[in-house]
Amino acid sequence: MSESPTKSRREFLATTPARIASASALAGIALPPVHAASTDTLSVALIGAGGRGTGAAVNALSVENGPTKLVAMADVVPEKLNASYDKLKTQFGDKVDVPPERRFLGFDAFQRAMDALKPGGVVILGTPPAFRWVHFTYAIDKGLHTFMEKPVTVDGPTTKRMFALADRASAKGLKCAVGLMVRHCRARQELLNRIRDGQIGDIIAMRGYRMGQGGGTAPPKPAGMPEVMYQLSKFHAFLWASGGVFSDYYIHQIDECSWMKGAWPVEAHGLGGRHYRGDSLDQNFDTYSVQFVYPDGTRLYFDGRNMKGARDEFASYAHGSKGSAVISTLSHTPGITRIYKGQNMPRVNNRKELPLPPDPNLIWAFPQPEKSPYQWEWDDLTDAIRNDKPYNEVRRGAEASLVTSMGRMAAHTGQIITYDQILNCPHEFAPNVDKLTPDGPAPVTLGPDGKYPQPEPGIKIDREY
Ligand SMILES: NC(=O)c1ccc[n+]([C@@H]2O[C@H](COP(=O)([O-])OP(=O)(O)OC[C@H]3O[C@@H](n4cnc5c(N)ncnc54)[C@H](O)[C@@H]3O)[C@@H](O)[C@H]2O)c1
Repeated sequence: MSESPTKSRREFLATTPARIASASALAGIALPPVHAASTDTLSVALIGAGGRGTGAAVNALSVENGPTKLVAMADVVPEKLNASYDKLKTQFGDKVDVPPERRFLGFDAFQRAMDALKPGGVVILGTPPAFRWVHFTYAIDKGLHTFMEKPVTVDGPTTKRMFALADRASAKGLKCAVGLMVRHCRARQELLNRIRDGQIGDIIAMRGYRMGQGGGTAPPKPAGMPEVMYQLSKFHAFLWASGGVFSDYYIHQIDECSWMKGAWPVEAHGLGGRHYRGDSLDQNFDTYSVQFVYPDGTRLYFDGRNMKGARDEFASYAHGSKGSAVISTLSHTPGITRIYKGQNMPRVNNRKELPLPPDPNLIWAFPQPEKSPYQWEWDDLTDAIRNDKPYNEVRRGAEASLVTSMGRMAAHTGQIITYDQILNCPHEFAPNVDKLTPDGPAPVTLGPDGKYPQPEPGIKIDREY
């Protein structure tokens, strides 16, 4: 499948092997990485056209550093693909050039959508995380730049695979972004600089919270629905597909605190339990409380809860020897990032309390309004592609995914889990995910008790289920 026949000569030249060959011959050097100039149109393909994949496509089509065009889409559910296409077409008109023959369905649809791009195009990987290494492998083989959503792995074996793929992508000069968008937030970046400058002293403790009204449940499968499609439709419920709510939801807080600390935690221990999950067949707990330990002994205390009627909190904080900092206030955006004298950071319960009243302990606050980090991450990626800057977030994204899995495994097994233990744990949750078919066997099956395998802390201790 070729790209739009209407593409300009410059656009054609920008991506053809002829241009690359003549450029390298002139320079007398090895083939340069494929990159586009500021006026070239970056062609984009979307794999996994659900909520976030569609959102990432919106961000891709909204960058202001040069033209972009969506040229291919892939999903396994026709309704998802159609809804995403309709939304994007309505919003972006001609920037969405995806005729029916470039809208692909099925478990091999990702290949056909990527085949529709020339080397130097950009692919969005917006499926559940289980497919990340499969789709990323193909993107590298095709010479495509990648934007992949977090988490990028859910277990040790796939993390090792992702580390190797990250190196392969870098060797090819490909630009790779991971959807830990807070890293691109200018407010958090300024906070990091201020922490590095010593404005709160040494970080002595951090706290992270992701507590909401529910999530990750799975009512029994509707009659007639293939098992694989059911599990994918409820991917937060199944550890193989997403790492569960722990990986899928909590990675952001764990990543942003570790970023501020300037290190990855080396061990975790924690607890959790199922309280009110009713008939849900999912593999999650509804409460989690995990301590992450950094190399210098500093702790991150992380609490996650998915429970109706309980208090919501979606925030992270750093406590330093001279002061304290709010990394996130009420979800990811706006960050409303601040530094306080002492340890008394005011509680912010909801958006109705914004803007915050004056506080005598406030030392610094990032000016409002803030641009969304979901847009910044695309501005940064496309800038790196157009200006051929080194740009590969995959190793870091895999490390963030791994330490998140470390915390999840600690809570699910009731053991202290170290970085090396989670990295070398042989339990690969979905070893045949690259061969999945809608009607084939699913990575987990119902037991004789009518339940999917559950974590049982203290009983199952070498693996989570
Ligand atoms: N960075 C963020 O803040 C953020 C926010 C939301 C979601 N996400 C991430 O985005 C990813 C998707 O989450 P979502 O909320 O958009 O889910 P979603 O269910 O809305 O979208 C996932 C889409 O992928 C499709 N899909 C599943 N398997 C596929 C396959 N093998 N090939 C092609 N398509 C396939 C599904 O049919 C669905 O349309 C997850 O990794 C999630 O963690 C990130």
